[in-house]
Amino acid sequence: MTTENQAAIEQEKEYMERLAKQDSYPLWAFHRDGDRHPPKAAPWVWRWKEMRELAYEAGRLERIKGQGYRRALLMQNPGLKAAGMATPSSTKTMSSAIQIVWPGEIAEAHRHTAAAIRWVIEGSGAFTVQDGEQFRMEPGDLNLTPSFVWHDHKNPSDEPVIWLDCLDAPMVGFFDAMFQEPFPEDVQPITKPDGYSNASIGNGLMRSVSSEVTGRALPLNYKWVDAYAALQAMNEGSRYDGIIMEYTNPTTGGHTMPTLACKLQQLRPGFHSDAHKHTSSVVYNVAKGSGSTIIDGKKLDWGFGDTFVVPSMNAHEHINDSMSEDAVLFSMSDLPLLESMLLYQEHHVDRQEVTGTIG
Ligand SMILES: [Fe+2]
Ligand SMILES: [Fe+2]
Repeated sequence: MTTENQAAIEQEKEYMERLAKQDSYPLWAFHRDGDRHPPKAAPWVWRWKEMRELAYEAGRLERIKGQGYRRALLMQNPGLKAAGMATPSSTKTMSSAIQIVWPGEIAEAHRHTAAAIRWVIEGSGAFTVQDGEQFRMEPGDLNLTPSFVWHDHKNPSDEPVIWLDCLDAPMVGFFDAMFQEPFPEDVQPITKPDGYSNASIGNGLMRSVSSEVTGRALPLNYKWVDAYAALQAMNEGSRYDGIIMEYTNPTTGGHTMPTLACKLQQLRPGFHSDAHKHTSSVVYNVAKGSGSTIIDGKKLDWGFGDTFVVPSMNAHEHINDSMSEDAVLFSMSDLPLLESMLLYQEHHVDRQEVTGTIG
């Protein structure tokens, strides 16, 4: 190294130190340093067999101490974990967990700014209570907990109930808008008749003229039997997703909630989708059948109850190899927030060559 080069390096080092003292950093060096890329979520799968066993073990643990705690197993994305992301989350924007509600147990009432959904995988004896209304939860049902709605869960049956919790917590946390408060009692009183919220939207075809249209989501229950029948009746599908429908907010006709879009899709026997990629990230749970998704050239085989993620801008295509059985995927994505910021982009890509596997 020449003396001139050595002098230039010393000069830059000294300059960088002076910048650091002013809590500043040069943009050109930021782009130059390869290790400064933001943490990236990895495409990943959490298998139902293992998660179910672990949930049962969590159920048998002695009573979990602390107000508002739940027997929930957060599914932590290994890509984000490796990058040191402190909060366990499944994608950059969404956290998801397998929650077991043990027979006789109450998950205490609280509310928080983060919105949540429950998607029931197994068991039918549990109830969730949302702002004074109780909902019986059965397999394949979707229940919404919009932002700042009081909620507690209870299982008066003698069988455990397991559901998938998905929250927009990482998005809310990004804005430093995350806070939570306990209800004064363990459970909130039931103040509304069964079916109150669903009745207010007349099966999604009508709305009460006395209620304002604010864009706020209601704590609705979407029954599996209705959602699956809707897919069965649909004749037109998407080249990328097969037969796909969104659980809409019936008061606006728009997305499920302001931050989250929940969808149900059917891959009919023998269906192999085209491939695309988009800026939204998606968490899937397998409701019925089996198949595979090729994500950035790697094949991920899935079956009932498995949870998997397709992170932002990962090319993906879905396959149902069975020639007799349909496959159904439930999914949750951050699409509404991306759209509201005009950041949603979707691109067609060629079908992929498989070069490896995931999970
Ligand atoms: Fe909660
Ligand atoms: Fe997609």
